[in-house]
Amino acid sequence: MKNQFKPMNNIVAIIVTLVFAVIFFVLFMLIPEPKDNPSSPSGQSARDARTYPSGMTGEILFDKSCSQCHTLPPLTHRTPEDWRILVLKMNRNMQQSGKNYLTPEEIQPVVDYILSRQKPA
Ligand code: HEC
Repeated sequence: MKNQFKPMNNIVAIIVTLVFAVIFFVLFMLIPEPKDNPSSPSGQSARDARTYPSGMTGEILFDKSCSQCHTLPPLTHRTPEDWRILVLKMNRNMQQSGKNYLTPEEIQPVVDYILSRQKPA
């Protein structure tokens, strides 16, 4: 009598396992996706955990953002355009490596700060 139920129990066990698998799958799908969309067109004023609070000066942004990977660079003479391109390039590094990064409006203040402090040619 007892043995007759054994195959049945296995099937029940499989069904229970499948039900739990489905439940876990559904729960897993319900986990909200991180909203990480740096290239979104409406990203102008979007702030997430990796951007700085608004209202910071170019100097503070430079100190905080540019020291994340290397020591602050010597401000040797470059053209304004070269500095702007470099800051944009570094900002892309920051985004790709998960560092805090500058929003589009914060690029120019940082470039302006660098230009105001760079050594003469
Ligand atoms: C995500 C890490 C990271 C951050 C943050 C970062 N840098 Fe860099 N930086 C690098 C790496 C890697 C190199 C060397 C490779 C290269 O030149 O791209 C570099 C090189 C440089 C150089 C020398 C390269 C050259 O072309 O002369 C300067 C100057 C510089 N960084 C300035 C900055 C400034 C200014 C900031 C802030 C706006 C900054 N970095 C923030 C990673 C970073």
